[in-house]
Amino acid sequence: MTTRRDFLSLGAVAAAGLTAGPNASAETTESVKSMKPPARPVIVTRVTGDQTVQEAYQMLLDGADTLDAAHHICLGRENDPRDHSVGLGGLPNEDGIVELDSCCMHGPSRRAGSVGGVRNIRNVCQLARKVYEHTSHVMMVGEGAEKFAVDLGFQRENLLTEDARKMWMLWKESNSQMDWWGPGMADPAWKDPYAGKPAPKPTIDLHGLSSLTPLNPGAVPRHPGEGWQPIIAARTQKLLAMAADLQIAPELRLAAVEQILWPTTGTIHVSALNTKGEISGATTTSGLAWKLSGRLGDSPIIGAGCYTDQDVGSAGATGSGEENIKVAGAHTIVELMRQGYTPKEAGLETLRRIVRNYDGDMNRIRYLDMEYYIVRRDGTYAGVSLWTTGPTGRPRQFVVHDGTCRVEPCACLLPGAAVEWPPF
Ligand code: GLY
Repeated sequence: MTTRRDFLSLGAVAAAGLTAGPNASAETTESVKSMKPPARPVIVTRVTGDQTVQEAYQMLLDGADTLDAAHHICLGRENDPRDHSVGLGGLPNEDGIVELDSCCMHGPSRRAGSVGGVRNIRNVCQLARKVYEHTSHVMMVGEGAEKFAVDLGFQRENLLTEDARKMWMLWKESNSQMDWWGPGMADPAWKDPYAGKPAPKPTIDLHGLSSLTPLNPGAVPRHPGEGWQPIIAARTQKLLAMAADLQIAPELRLAAVEQILWPTTGTIHVSALNTKGEISGATTTSGLAWKLSGRLGDSPIIGAGCYTDQDVGSAGATGSGEENIKVAGAHTIVELMRQGYTPKEAGLETLRRIVRNYDGDMNRIRYLDMEYYIVRRDGTYAGVSLWTTGPTGRPRQFVVHDGTCRVEPCACLLPGAAVEWPPF
């Protein structure tokens, strides 16, 4: 029988073999090891539209823990019923039930926690942290995670707000034949619902994954959906009329229609670094709108939705969760930075792997959406995006605070925008 002592010593031998072996490529490069922490804290995140980034920054200046600061921003979104991508007011699954996912990594103590598919508990970012603070586990899901939350004093509540319920009704009434059921795009037998419509040509070298091939912006249409605007406009008008029938407030109707045409993959990730070189990351979401009950995306997956290594940096994701899981996006970015890539290069390279997973087939890639938020231990940061704009034409941006809080454009792999999915 293998005793705990044997097991530990076997582990030590294995670890020694790994670091001494010829393929010890996981070693942090000298250039990264020699990096000093920044003179001022750095936060990178999604555009939040509130004051929490400034408040979290002040927390870091006052000496707060980096995960506390990251969670301050996440909590702001989870508590805002107008944010339909997260927490209270998050868009529900196809059955009208809100299921939340979150994970976090605390760099200084090298701990991680995660929860997935949690119902009735609003602040899942804090619940994810409780997993490592109160148990020997890292990840908890579903009913067990909900019970764990209640045991710890979290309040159960209905997370489906009236606005979100009406948007769900709009989706059900308008789109019930076109949902997430059926084989996905990774299935070789997948049929493109837009077959015959022009798709952009790949502009990147899919074979030289480690070479950063410059893009040729002139080589593809600016918007892969060009020529479809009249169809989208007609459908928008029809949906707006249905939204009025459902008594969705006039000021919310367009946003509701956008959620039908382009179901949100929105999420919030925050990476926070202080001047001691301590780094933490957190991600929280209600996941893909109208998803199948029980579906987990990337946000609760440590290494996909979020990954932080105190020695190197931190990264997190918003966007097409299924695609991000397949490239272990946040972990890949941190590992590439360990090998010497800059945050921007590491993010673009990871996006390139998503493109590679479809052999550069733009008939499929045009349905994907992916953004990464990245900070390296020296304070260098990046926001990167698969496309230059979101489906509604808004430029892809991220927020950075390094003494000044500002919105910056993401570095983009492909010019143009993803198109709506599911198709109509
Ligand atoms: N990125 C959020 C999700 O796919 O669930």
